[in-house]
Formats: sequence, structure tokens, C-alpha cells
Amino acid sequence: MAKIAVITGATGGLGQEFVSELLKEDVDEIWAVARNTEKLNGLKAKYGDKVRPVKCDLGSTDDIEALHALIGTERPDIRILINNAGTGKMGSTTDFTPDDINKTININCRAVCLLCGYAIPFMKSGARILNISSASSFQPVPYINLYAASKVFVRSYTRALNVELKSKGITCTAVCPGWIDTDMLQKEHNGKPVKFPGLVSPNRVAVQALRDSAKGRDMSVCTLFVKYEHYLSKALPQKVLMKMWLNGIKDYV
Ligand SMILES: NC(=O)c1ccc[n+]([C@@H]2O[C@H](COP(=O)([O-])OP(=O)(O)OC[C@H]3O[C@@H](n4cnc5c(N)ncnc54)[C@H](OP(=O)(O)O)[C@@H]3O)[C@@H](O)[C@H]2O)c1
Repeated sequence: MAKIAVITGATGGLGQEFVSELLKEDVDEIWAVARNTEKLNGLKAKYGDKVRPVKCDLGSTDDIEALHALIGTERPDIRILINNAGTGKMGSTTDFTPDDINKTININCRAVCLLCGYAIPFMKSGARILNISSASSFQPVPYINLYAASKVFVRSYTRALNVELKSKGITCTAVCPGWIDTDMLQKEHNGKPVKFPGLVSPNRVAVQALRDSAKGRDMSVCTLFVKYEHYLSKALPQKVLMKMWLNGIKDYV
């Protein structure tokens, strides 16, 4: 039975770093999930034959069911599942279309639950699930309202799942990074560079997340800066935290 890792959003900034780190894990294949075939093939060309491109739009029920069927047919030993794909739009909630809302909830929340549900029957003791949440899950975040709320869902879901799966020996880790230097970030606003306090490289986040999951931690918070944000989110009233956030983004809204 092939030992595999499954990673969604494998072609993105953080996803590629996870793929590169997963090559060091004891797995025969890395199922790299994303929509863009060209980028998926590029990933295989870059990281070798261990990488198996799996084209799948996580916003599509048919595509997710096709991935479910693939797991059912091959019956692999899933050692690691990383629900990394995510999407988010910044801006005023009133500008969000129903499609924006559906996409965010389907990819960031629904797909995470479905893939956990489909993978767990093929996981043995020692297997690990990493779900990518965000530091934006620490407090309500105006102007990234929906995205941040979706990441609260991921963090809560993952930590509770970790408790449920303890008896099976499966660890679930909610990864909560601050700003990561990837294409997800809009680097310019009105021709001026946008500041991202505490920005880190995607490799640093991936390495820390896999280390924390191997240690059995239910949360991974990378860098002292984000640990401090996490502490503040518990120490200060949420109204104060939101005022501080609004002050930080006043040049962009
Ligand atoms: N960047 C940050 O500052 C930051 C901070 C905290 C948390 N995060 C979280 O970290 C994770 C990775 O983000 P990133 O910064 O690496 O983003 P990214 O560079 O934009 O990559 C996103 C990845 O998700 C895939 N994807 C998007 N929509 C998809 C869909 N419908 N179906 C399947 N795959 C889809 C993309 O591939 P295709 O387009 O080919 O499908 C791509 O591989 C996300 O969950 C994000 O919310 C990011």
C-alpha cells in the first residue's frame, strides 16, 4: 500500500514549500492538488516523480467527489493531509458578490471538512492533518471579514478534530501564520507598496508547521511577532484590537 501525502494548493507560495519539505518525509507519493495543469506539471518537473499532479477545483463538488473516488480506488495509506488551498478577497463586505462568498466558504471551509472526512478512513496511528488557518483567526478583522471568519472556522474545527482523533493516534494541527510573502498578497495600493508587518517567507512557515505537527501540537504559530499577536488577542478586548487593526490599514481603505 503506497504511503502518500496529500497537499491542496500545492502550486501556490506556501503549497510549493510544503511540497519541497514533504520530499523529506517517509512517503512514496505526494498528491499535489490544484486547478492549473501547467503549474502542476511544472511542480512535477521541479520536484520529481514523487509528485503526482491531481487537477481538482476545490470549489466544485464534482471535482472533490472525483478526488474522493480516486482515494477509494487506490486505498492509499495517507500519512499526511495538508489542507492548504485558500482564497480571500479584501474589501468592504458590501462589495462581495454571492459568488465571492460561496467561493471563500467552499474552498476555505467546506473542502477542508470534506477532505478530512474522506482521508481519515485511510489514516493510521501516526498520521497527521495540517489545516491552514491564519493569524486573522485570532480576532474579527474588518475589511478581511469573510476570509478571517473562514479561518476562525478552520482553527476551531481542527483543534476539536484533534481531540476527536486522539484515540486513533492522528494529530491535527491548525497552522496560523501572519503575513506570508506569496502571490496571495496585494503588494501595491494606488501605486504605493503595501506594508505587511512581520512578513515571513513561506518556507519558514512550512518548516515550522511540519515540525509542530510532528510534535503533536494542535496549533502552529510561526515567529515571535505572531505569537505576540496571539497573546494580545487573548489579553485585549476585541473592540480595541479592531481599532488597532483599522489604524494599521487606514492608508488602504
Ligand atoms: N499569504 C499570506 O499572507 C497568508 C497568511 C495566512 C494564511 N495564509 C493561508 O495560506 C494558504 C496558502 O496561501 P498562499 O499565500 O500560498 O496563496 P497562493 O500563493 O495564492 O496559493 C493558493 C493556492 O491555492 C490553490 N487554489 C486556489 N483556489 C483553488 C481551488 N478552487 N481549487 C484548488 N486549488 C485552489 C492555487 O492553485 P490554482 O490556482 O492552480 O488552483 C494555489 O496553489 C491559504 O490557505 C491562505 O489562506 C496565507
